[in-house]
Amino acid sequence: MKNLKNKKILLIICGGVSAYKSLELIRLFKKKDAEIKTILTKNAKEFVTPLSVASLSQGKVYDDLFNVENESEMDHIALSRWADVIIVSPATANTISKLSQGSSEDLASTVILASNKPVFLVPAMNVRMWEHKSTRNNLVKLKSYGYKTIGPIIGEMACGEYGEGKMAEPTDILNEINIFLLSQSNNKKIKVLITAGPTNEYLDPVRFITNKSSGKQGYEIANSLLKRGFDTTLISGPTNLDVDNKINLIKVNTAEEMFKATQKNLPIDIAIFSAAVSDFKIIRKKENKIKKQENLTVNLEKNIDILNYVSNHNFMRPKLVIGFAAETQDLDRNAIMKLTNKNCDWIIANDVSKKDRGFNSDYNEVTIHYKDKKKTKEVLSFKKKSEISEEIVDRIVAQIN
Ligand code: PMT
Repeated sequence: MKNLKNKKILLIICGGVSAYKSLELIRLFKKKDAEIKTILTKNAKEFVTPLSVASLSQGKVYDDLFNVENESEMDHIALSRWADVIIVSPATANTISKLSQGSSEDLASTVILASNKPVFLVPAMNVRMWEHKSTRNNLVKLKSYGYKTIGPIIGEMACGEYGEGKMAEPTDILNEINIFLLSQSNNKKIKVLITAGPTNEYLDPVRFITNKSSGKQGYEIANSLLKRGFDTTLISGPTNLDVDNKINLIKVNTAEEMFKATQKNLPIDIAIFSAAVSDFKIIRKKENKIKKQENLTVNLEKNIDILNYVSNHNFMRPKLVIGFAAETQDLDRNAIMKLTNKNCDWIIANDVSKKDRGFNSDYNEVTIHYKDKKKTKEVLSFKKKSEISEEIVDRIVAQIN
């Protein structure tokens, strides 16, 4: 596990009977030469002492007494930027609930809210609390923000009950973090390009033909790729969305500009085409604003198909080409046709005839069709686009490793 050497781990210990297991976790991380800083919540101090945590971690222990007045080295922002990864262990039902509401009432929740780093929750609680709808919903929400969970496992709990809710074993937590960091550092060398959003095809300087794409699905995929460490380039049509400044964002207007930006960024390892590129452009754009008139005939011609160009490139075809298919009928059949005709490795089909998914919604449901005949199609059921993106990127990581 050379990969953990010098890695910066921010461990947040919350108040629960399994807090003592986090001491073992610290010991394991230290054995692998990781750097550890710890935050103890007010309740955690009822279960473990700051002194035992400090001596095991050989690092600073922060708590709610630490505030802007008495801090000498780091504020909550610097602390969240310092970490390579944040682990909340044990993550109690109360902490999970607070995090899902975006609370910033103590140092632990403020650091997480201010962080753009991978967050791992290690839940530990009574089985009934774990199974409660409220906890389930809170976790669904946190997962949609890209938070990961490790455990819980099934076993006997401190309260005497038996079931799911027991904190994962420290060795398993260490392994999962190691695997994550390993794939993150491998992914740094992998260049991914993703197109997103609509394109605008101008009739005159102020009028254009466009579509309902918001860019949300593509931007979420770019965010998920960045979190896994990929060298990410996002070529985006006009949207109102922001991305992390570590993503190489190239803003374009027209399909032609999107094509040129894509061409300029070749070669790449993986290409994902989620943009809703206009199939047509205006043959002769007017230089001045078109005057009001009774009738107007606009002549259109076919735009270049960016996906087709890239997937058929004779010497710069990416190792993995993923297209999207926006369909209003015969979803599977049309998607499979696009998979073949556009020479994709995967095609991700979504139904764009419904209001609650597809274009300009925060939600989606997709089916992934693979060129590889050994793989069967997979449905990623109706959920937030951010979760769909995480699941797509999980599959990308699995495929390239
Ligand atoms: O942006 P959102 O509001 O979040 O909505 C997401 C989405 C519905 C736009 C997205 O999930 C999606 O389906 N994107 C593809 C939209 C589309 O144009 O699909 P298509 O079936 O017409 O095109 C097939 C594929 O060819 C797509 O990968 C498309 O990017 C690509 N293409 C199409 C035409 C063209 N000239 N160049 C292309 O690269």
